[in-house]
Amino acid sequence: MSNSREEYFDQIGSGWDELREGFFTDATREKAIGCAEVRAGTLAADVGAGTGYITEALAARGVGVIAVDSSESMLTALTAKLQPEADVDCRQGDAEALPIEDGTVDYTFANMLLHHVESPPAAIREMARILKPGGTLVLTDLDEHDFEFLVTEHHDRWKGFERDRIREWFVEAGLVDVRVDCAGADCCAVSGTGEGATVGIFVAWAHRPSG
Ligand SMILES: C[S@@+](CC[C@H](N)C(=O)[O-])C[C@H]1O[C@@H](n2cnc3c(N)ncnc32)[C@H](O)[C@@H]1O
Repeated sequence: MSNSREEYFDQIGSGWDELREGFFTDATREKAIGCAEVRAGTLAADVGAGTGYITEALAARGVGVIAVDSSESMLTALTAKLQPEADVDCRQGDAEALPIEDGTVDYTFANMLLHHVESPPAAIREMARILKPGGTLVLTDLDEHDFEFLVTEHHDRWKGFERDRIREWFVEAGLVDVRVDCAGADCCAVSGTGEGATVGIFVAWAHRPSG
C-alpha cells in the first residue's frame, strides 16, 4: 500500500463513521451478516475493519471478532467504541498477510476493503485460509464503475469489480457454493467539484469445504 493511502485512513480515524454514513447505510452489513447466518458463540474475522461497522454488529449478536486493519488510528477508534462485554481482539496487519492462523474462524467478513488492496485475489486467498472447514467468507464491495475521483480523492485502488471476476477468485481460493448477488444497496459519493457517483454494492459469499 502506498504511503498516501495509509495516511488517508490514518488521518480519518474516528471521522470515518461520519463519512461512512454518507457513503452507505446499515443495509449492507445486515445483508452480509444475513448471508453468513451467524450464530452466537462463534468466531469471525473482520478484515479492513475500520472503526467497526461489521465488528460492532457481530459483537451485538454474541459473535467473537478478530478485527484486522492496517491503520492504527482506525483500530484505536474502534476500540474506543466497544461495549465492555464485547469479545473483540484488534490486530494491526495487512489483508494480504493476515495475522491469524490457518483454520481459525467460522466466518470472514470484509466490507469495502477489497477495492483498497494491492492484490484482490491474494487477499481473498488469505480470507479463505483463516476459515475453519465449513466456514463462510462474505465480501461486500463495489461493482465495477468509472468514477475516477474515487481513486484520486478517496484513494481507492480499484474501480470496483466485475462480479464474474470475484466468482473466479473465490473458486481459485478453493471455496465452494459460491454466490454473488446485489447487496440491495448503493454507495453514494460526491467529488470535490460536485460530481455525484452512485455505485452498486455486491455481496459474494461461499464456504470452505467441510472435509
Ligand atoms: C473503506 S474503509 C472500510 C472500513 C469498514 N470495513 C467499514 O465498512 O466501515 C477500508 C478500511 O480498510 C483498511 N485497509 C486498507 N487497505 C488495507 C490492507 N491492505 N490491509 C488491511 N486493512 C486495509 C483501511 O485502513 C480502512 O480502515
